[in-house]
Amino acid sequence: MTDKNIVLCGFMGSGKSTVGKYLSKLTGRAYIDMDIYIEQQQGMKVKNIFEQYGEDYFRYLEHEASVKLAQEKNLIIAAGGGTLLFERNSMPLSSSGIIVLLDVALGTIKYRLRNDTKRPLLQRPDKFEAMTKLYNERIPIYRQVANVTIKTRKSPRLVAQAVLTRIEAYEKENL
Ligand code: S3P
Repeated sequence: MTDKNIVLCGFMGSGKSTVGKYLSKLTGRAYIDMDIYIEQQQGMKVKNIFEQYGEDYFRYLEHEASVKLAQEKNLIIAAGGGTLLFERNSMPLSSSGIIVLLDVALGTIKYRLRNDTKRPLLQRPDKFEAMTKLYNERIPIYRQVANVTIKTRKSPRLVAQAVLTRIEAYEKENL
C-alpha cells in the first residue's frame, strides 16, 4: 500500500472523523483530525477561533496546517469541510496524499447535524437553508479534487474498508 497520506474530504457531518478513526485502526497509521490539530496548536476551540478572530483567520490556520501535514507520510487525515475548497490547501495535500471524498446525501447530512452546536457556520436560524446552499456550492469542488469518491450509506467501519479497497484499485490504475 502507498505511503502517501490518506486525506478524507467531504461536507460537515459526512463522517470524516469517524471513518478516519476506523481507517487508523485498520491500517495502523496515525490519525490526525485537522480541526483538533489546529485546536491543539492554538489552545482554543475552532468555535472560539471563529468567534474571536473570524473565519479568515481560521482559514489561514487551516492553510498552515495543510502545508505542514502535507510534509508527512503515512497519515490518515480528516480535513475540515472547508479545507479542500482552497487550491492553496488542495495542492499540497493532493501532491502528498490520496484525496478520498465521502459523498453523503444532503438529507443525511441535515439529519446528522440537526442539533449541532459546535460548527460555527451552522449556528444560525436558517441553518438548513445555509447547509443546502453551502452543500450545492461545495460538492462540485470536492468532486473535482478527489482521487476516489465513496458514495455510500453503509456503517463507518464498512466505509473504511471500502476506502482501502478503492485506494488499492486507484493505485493499480495509476502506477
Ligand atoms: C468547516 C467545517 C468544520 C470546521 C469549521 C469549518 C467548514 O470541520 O473546520 O467549522 O467550512 O465546512 P468538519 O467538516 O469536521 O465539521
